[in-house]
Amino acid sequence: MMISRRDSLKQIKRLAIPYLTLPLIAVVKTDNSTPQQTLGPFYPLIFPLDEDNDLTWVKDHKKEALGEKIMILGKVLTSNYQRIKNAKVEIWQACSSGRYNHEYDPNQAPIDPNFQGWGWTKTDTKGYYAFKTIKPGGYPVTKNWKRPPHIHFKITQPNGKEFITQLYFSEEEELNQKDKILQRIPKPQQSLVITELVKDESLKMRVGQFNIML
Ligand SMILES: [Fe+2]
Repeated sequence: MMISRRDSLKQIKRLAIPYLTLPLIAVVKTDNSTPQQTLGPFYPLIFPLDEDNDLTWVKDHKKEALGEKIMILGKVLTSNYQRIKNAKVEIWQACSSGRYNHEYDPNQAPIDPNFQGWGWTKTDTKGYYAFKTIKPGGYPVTKNWKRPPHIHFKITQPNGKEFITQLYFSEEEELNQKDKILQRIPKPQQSLVITELVKDESLKMRVGQFNIML
């Protein structure tokens, strides 16, 4: 059956559900496995033409993204500490002002046209991945709830199994403490999805490590 443009737009609208209507439940195991968190409402509907693991430059643009450039790197592992090679790792996030490049983001903050917003890579033979991006801005959900800066992650294993989570920054303690999504994770396991940005002199930027145990 053919799907008309109107029907497909309806489908897209259905996907654009605000945070408050989403199940915010985190899936937490008792070991060091990374807690799973909601996909959120801003997974891209339209993927940027430039799709790589450097979100700070959009192909053919003259300017780089605004904000602090950072590197996020780590490895993808099984719960038995076996490294997973060839896993697809996707990230998406708000630009430095806190706005997603997404049609249904209600945030009025200015969008940075030079920020790629989404990117992907594959883990290498040792299970490592890396992204160059910018530190995202936080954004309001309600009058009393501002999401802390965070990066969404989706891992697709070679067997097709998907894993979804979000990464936070230790320096955003105040917003982290009040975040309705992060706080669904029991305190002892929250550190598994919080990274500390540490200055790397050779890369000339701060780097955050995030190992993802499925
Ligand atoms: Fe988000």
